[in-house]
Amino acid sequence: MSLRVLPSTDSSTSDCGCSRRTLLQGAAVAAGAVAIAGCGGGGSGDDDAVDASNGGGDAASTGVTMCGANLCVDLNVAANAALAAVGGAMVIIAPAPHGKLIVAQPTADTFVAMSAICTHAGCTVAYQKATNIMACPCHGSKYDVDGKVAVGPAARDLKTFAAAVDASKVVTITLA
Ligand code: FES
Repeated sequence: MSLRVLPSTDSSTSDCGCSRRTLLQGAAVAAGAVAIAGCGGGGSGDDDAVDASNGGGDAASTGVTMCGANLCVDLNVAANAALAAVGGAMVIIAPAPHGKLIVAQPTADTFVAMSAICTHAGCTVAYQKATNIMACPCHGSKYDVDGKVAVGPAARDLKTFAAAVDASKVVTITLA
């Protein structure tokens, strides 16, 4: 299974400015089903996503793979530096039916994972380190890091997933 990941260290900007060209270059380097395009400052655009939805990622280049029925993100891989940093985040396109997920590390070695799709109208949320929330750039909805709506217009919470890091610095996101 393959995954897509979006670094999202600070959602104060809704678009990281990554170009399609950057994404394509990242995909070419990955030379497989997994495409990654790092982008300092992070954002919420699809251009930053790492795609894990097609089966078997290129773990050597992305560090994002399916591990059994779950999703594993290797923080030792440079491509995942955004998530490896405390206060960092990234977006991963997980296999259906899960779709786009956002994973963040609000405090050291504590990870949260949830749907990245705003329940209001489907925009991609981004993690805001300063306020420790998931913010939607489209109409201002905000969610706590437990996925609960903090500010509307969204009325429904984001679906959350268990996420934990092990001693080898691999984050496992339980998709079940
Ligand atoms: S789509 Fe997120 S607030 Fe409207």
